[in-house]
Amino acid sequence: MEFDRLGENMHEVLLILDFGSQYTQLIARRVREQQVYCRIERSEMTADMIKASGAQAIILSGGPNSTFEAGAPQIDPAIFDLDIPILGVCYGLQLAARHFGGRVEPGKTREYGPMGIDFPAESALFADVEPNTQVWMSHGDHVSTVNENFEIIAQSRNGLIAGIAHRAKPVYGVQFHPEVNHTIKGETIISNFLFKIAGFTRDWTSSSYVENAIATIRKTVGDRKVLLGLSGGVDSSVLAFLMHEAIGDNCIPVFINNGLLRANETEEVKTSFEVSHIKIYQHDYSRAFLDELTGVTEPEAKRKIIGRVFVEAFEEVALAHEGIDFLAQGTLYPDVIESGAVSGHAVTIKSHHNVGGLPEKMSLKVIEPFNELFKDEVRAVGQVLNVPAKIIGRHPFPGPGLAVRCLGEINEERLNVLREADKIFVETLYETGWYDKIWQAFTVLLPLRTVGVMGDKRTYENVLAIRSVHSLDGMTADWVRIPYEILADVSSKIVNTVNGINRVVYDITSKPPGTIEWE
Ligand code: XMP
Repeated sequence: MEFDRLGENMHEVLLILDFGSQYTQLIARRVREQQVYCRIERSEMTADMIKASGAQAIILSGGPNSTFEAGAPQIDPAIFDLDIPILGVCYGLQLAARHFGGRVEPGKTREYGPMGIDFPAESALFADVEPNTQVWMSHGDHVSTVNENFEIIAQSRNGLIAGIAHRAKPVYGVQFHPEVNHTIKGETIISNFLFKIAGFTRDWTSSSYVENAIATIRKTVGDRKVLLGLSGGVDSSVLAFLMHEAIGDNCIPVFINNGLLRANETEEVKTSFEVSHIKIYQHDYSRAFLDELTGVTEPEAKRKIIGRVFVEAFEEVALAHEGIDFLAQGTLYPDVIESGAVSGHAVTIKSHHNVGGLPEKMSLKVIEPFNELFKDEVRAVGQVLNVPAKIIGRHPFPGPGLAVRCLGEINEERLNVLREADKIFVETLYETGWYDKIWQAFTVLLPLRTVGVMGDKRTYENVLAIRSVHSLDGMTADWVRIPYEILADVSSKIVNTVNGINRVVYDITSKPPGTIEWE
């Protein structure tokens, strides 16, 4: 369903042409953080297409290729005649330099990591940045000479060209990556480009997004009905609030209890929505899920069963509601980018279960109002819509729920042990003020028993792992250095009160090489 391009023509637009850098998404985040709307596009986008899009500026991303390689991505040269501001980053810089007759040399002096740069000439791009500032380099080839078209505005401490500015056109290039945190003044440099050079006005705000989204949803849906799969997580909850604001009770949020939820989850979701006068439909399918999962221990098999049963349950529920034409999903921009739909550079990610299969089967049209947003932007939208803080601040929870945290066999008894332990851990984090400092925290029940001693008795019970990570988007993560006293408290509370656990361990693996969930 054509619901994308929400921002187009409603906001000023910056386009990022993607040459395949691992940092392209980061450039987009950095630009959005400055309240400028941007989209990642394929590097093949032509000058005519860019003109038609109404874009006010372009960033050319970095990329893994060398401009010398056969088949290395090129750029429509007419883009440089559009006379809109262009910033080339790394590979993007090299393309721009070559286009205007500069020389790029294959890397004899490879620069990787932190590097100081100085500014041989003044330039708006480096306004308010002190000499010898630290930037992040990651390149083999480099621009060795530029002709009279360009001025060298930055030089690395190795003597290599680190930044150039065209003398007559608003074309700039940097060899380093301003989008990564290791570039100390990266934010200033990007902001200089956006505001001092390209003249953006910070018109991409949560309230303007909400206003436009509501108008677009009303226009798309009219007085027809929309079904929404509500998981209780941040994305689908905020979406339910947005849809309700736009079309009231014509949005039907359906919450399916798959028996794999956390302690009190059904009640909590119910209460949060009651307070907001949004009617939600809860259906208990826990028996169906648990029956199908009996005896299954292989992680991918579990995920597949849950995906299938979910589609069946949802289909049954959906058919009970008449006259539904649309299915609303909380798909986020990173999902769209990672599916390769935007840049053509697909990245393989863990197969996440969604309501895939449903729309075709039931001929529902899918609307995905968040497919232009990052998770932090969804949270900001939630604030504008007065979504309760507890929902907005909730840690992400995977679709397959506790099934991927109950390693080995899944049954009511083991799930209850896990729920009890998880509740203790999460409550302690709330009490100590750590919950909001952490991206995601949870417990994992292992299919492993160890010997312990309690009172004067020998015990032989399960091991529980605690996992807690910092992350920006779930793609990479690091384990959280929770103070020992808190870990000690959690461990003793769990071992003392949860029957069936006699040992607690803390997971100190980052992602990569680990993943966040254990299955
Ligand atoms: P991994 O385990 O791949 O998890 O490092 C990254 C993030 O995604 C969540 N996750 C899922 N979310 N359906 C979801 O909606 C899933 O099947 C799924 N599997 C993992 C995980 O909790 C973490 O936040």
